[in-house]
Amino acid sequence: MASVDVPVALLGYGTVGAAVNRLLVEGADEIERATGHKLRVTRALVRDTGKERDYPVADGVLTTDFRSVLEDDSIALVAEVMGGVEPTGGYVLDLLRSGKPVVSANKQLLARRSADLFEAASEGGVQLRFEASVCAAIPVIKVLRESLVVTNVHRVLGIVNGTTNFILTRMEEGADYEEALAEAQRLGYAEADPTDDVSGADAAAKMAVLATVAFGSRVELADVAYEGIEGIKPHHVAAARELETVVRLVGSATLVDGAVDVRVGPAFVDGHHPLAAVVGAFNAVMLQGDAIREITLEGPGAGGIETASAVVADMVSVLGTTGTGFLQNDACWRSLSKLPPGDLPGAFYVHLEVADRPGVLAHVADCFAEQDVSIAQLAQHLVNGTAALDLVTHEAPGGRVEAALSSAAALAEVRSRPEALRMITERGF
Ligand SMILES: NC(=O)c1ccc[n+]([C@@H]2O[C@H](COP(=O)([O-])OP(=O)(O)OC[C@H]3O[C@@H](n4cnc5c(N)ncnc54)[C@H](OP(=O)(O)O)[C@@H]3O)[C@@H](O)[C@H]2O)c1
Repeated sequence: MASVDVPVALLGYGTVGAAVNRLLVEGADEIERATGHKLRVTRALVRDTGKERDYPVADGVLTTDFRSVLEDDSIALVAEVMGGVEPTGGYVLDLLRSGKPVVSANKQLLARRSADLFEAASEGGVQLRFEASVCAAIPVIKVLRESLVVTNVHRVLGIVNGTTNFILTRMEEGADYEEALAEAQRLGYAEADPTDDVSGADAAAKMAVLATVAFGSRVELADVAYEGIEGIKPHHVAAARELETVVRLVGSATLVDGAVDVRVGPAFVDGHHPLAAVVGAFNAVMLQGDAIREITLEGPGAGGIETASAVVADMVSVLGTTGTGFLQNDACWRSLSKLPPGDLPGAFYVHLEVADRPGVLAHVADCFAEQDVSIAQLAQHLVNGTAALDLVTHEAPGGRVEAALSSAAALAEVRSRPEALRMITERGF
């Protein structure tokens, strides 16, 4: 099937805008294969066309004239990655009314103007999508709107601001608030003026958007009570530790007897709670509902390329759900071979019961060495005259660990079948 050429425009070509273009250019073949569409940025609105750009565009693409986007009939889709409420809001309303679908990364706009925006989208008969406005790369809006559409979600708990989570995590490690903030600024997690983040205002806008989608009832920024982390002192962090909890800036949206409560503020979170494990600049959202009990989504909540991935996903979703969109077809577009089961690498925990005799350890170690599996940790215990070995391997193909276990099982000093469990340690960062 011939692929469809889709000229798209960006409002804004800063951190996120340039990353969107990069993903569209560098991922063009993949997007085309998966969707049958070729997305090309043909216009990008900026303030200053002469500025140096992280990811350059072809001559003539940058413009300072909004009308050249609005009035270009060839532009099928627009991504708003410009930020701010005005003139951005007016531009998005004009685009939607004129029949151009828009995807937006702008929580401030969505948290203040969503009623007008959706009215304009309905007037223009087009979609407005906004996944990137909350928690960047974490696909929480799509999960709430599509996957959980029949689940009565009654509570959303979130760590939705990475800057404050980074600061609180550093405070747990001994830094005071000022030191942790300065470090966040040095690493680019916090703006030179961090007020929006540390005051809780940024998290409040995101919680307004999340609550609106979760409960299907409009919640605006003005409806969200918020408090920031400026008042958090080392003694709070110490008290939290005494209680086996951690301090987090938590956004909550709760349905109580049919009424909505949305708030943001510092809270002590039980050490076993999934939100307590969210450290550094990461974000997480926990959704609680009747049928699902609890689902937690965690990932990077900011960053140019992370946010761009959600913007591009929304663009693809618009195309996939318009007309005879590809999302209505078989999801498979290629045929990959299956990895032989023994080839998947991993680290393993291994337990062996052995005779308590000199030289046993060396024989067991040889079995692993013969298979080129190296041992990362080893502990030996003595129980009722039988020695038990607990060891952890470095990463190795599972098949080779199996082979090492078979030779170990055949050793005269090994008393029972060795046991092995995969260890899940690796994360995507
Ligand atoms: N950066 C992130 O990690 C992140 C994460 C999640 C969501 N977001 C959201 O994504 C949006 C964009 O963020 P960003 O970090 O990419 O911002 P940015 O780097 O400041 O880029 C903003 C872009 O918009 C253009 N622009 C701003 N005001 C304009 C105006 N009045 N007329 C024409 N062009 C204008 C700027 O033009 P010039 O380049 O000429 O100045 C720039 O290209 C915001 O809504 C932000 O909240 C960002």
